[in-house]
Amino acid sequence: MSTQPAFRHDPSDELAALCKAGGDPLRLNVLRALASDSFGVLELAQIFAMRQSGISHHLKVLAQAGLVATRREGNAIFYRRALASSGQTGSALQAALLEEVDALQLPTEVQLRIAEVQAQRAAAARDFFARTLEKFRAQQDLIAGLPQYRDSLLTLLDALHLPASASALEVGPGDGAFLPELAKRFARVTALDSSPAMLELARQRCSAEGLANVELKLADALNDDQAPADCVVLNMVLHHFAEPARAMAQLARLLTPGGSLLLTELCSHHQSWARDACGDLWLGFDQDELARWAEDAGLTAGESLYLGLRNGFQIQVRHFAKPEAATRTTLKH
Ligand SMILES: C[S@@+](CC[C@H](N)C(=O)[O-])C[C@H]1O[C@@H](n2cnc3c(N)ncnc32)[C@H](O)[C@@H]1O
Repeated sequence: MSTQPAFRHDPSDELAALCKAGGDPLRLNVLRALASDSFGVLELAQIFAMRQSGISHHLKVLAQAGLVATRREGNAIFYRRALASSGQTGSALQAALLEEVDALQLPTEVQLRIAEVQAQRAAAARDFFARTLEKFRAQQDLIAGLPQYRDSLLTLLDALHLPASASALEVGPGDGAFLPELAKRFARVTALDSSPAMLELARQRCSAEGLANVELKLADALNDDQAPADCVVLNMVLHHFAEPARAMAQLARLLTPGGSLLLTELCSHHQSWARDACGDLWLGFDQDELARWAEDAGLTAGESLYLGLRNGFQIQVRHFAKPEAATRTTLKH
């Protein structure tokens, strides 16, 4: 009778997978390209001028090493960088590898093809809205609805490992679709919206779902006083504020020392129709600009996730932390 060798999980397998994934110039460049964007397989095949089967092989090696994660949007799979889980085998090596990768300059032809992919996305966005403009029901959902970024936002939120006693404050919850997720994770949740109509929709959702730990308040997050919370969440709201840099400083004051601001926003775009159609004051934000405003508000940048949408828009999900010892914030105009 033949005996099968017993399966043995060895942490050195994970290290070996990480070293293998990092031991190839093309895979390092893929990681570099994913530093502030997410791409579909076909987009990556175009960017690295190779067949889909070839790039898929490299993505599989990166995924097996835990260096990239996937997100499905319709039939397409988008790749982004995975978050390192601190304390796990290989996490220090992963962080060091990504730091070195970020210092790499992508070859010029790769940079040009990334710009090409971004131009194609912008064209896809124009086509998309040209075809569906009349059918507009909820403008926000057509640009970037919660289903498109919920998982990424929850990945960042859950990575904070906040204690069960923590409190959350959602600014501009709209119809309250994210409140059930917050209610599950926090002892107390406050949701502030300046629109009575929106707040009524949120109230109906809270009542339908029996969310007993959520308090809804009709208030202006920038002008009315609020008790600070351990986590402040702001999804697709900042682009409605006239002075976003100043708003960031005001939001920082709503955080307890050591607290976290989770911000979901559009990246800069050129779809100026969004101003009239959706009331957007800003056409998204540049990633570095957001980080600078956060820094001016006394916050430090944490992990970020970037999601390319099939309609051509790009979403950024950002984490900014308030230091334990509160620092002085400056209000800049
Ligand atoms: C684009 S909607 C986003 C809704 C929801 N977060 C989402 O992602 O679907 C913006 C929301 O922010 C609210 N809002 C805008 N300015 C506000 C302010 N200064 N204070 C509180 N809520 C505000 C609006 O009433 C609206 O519900």
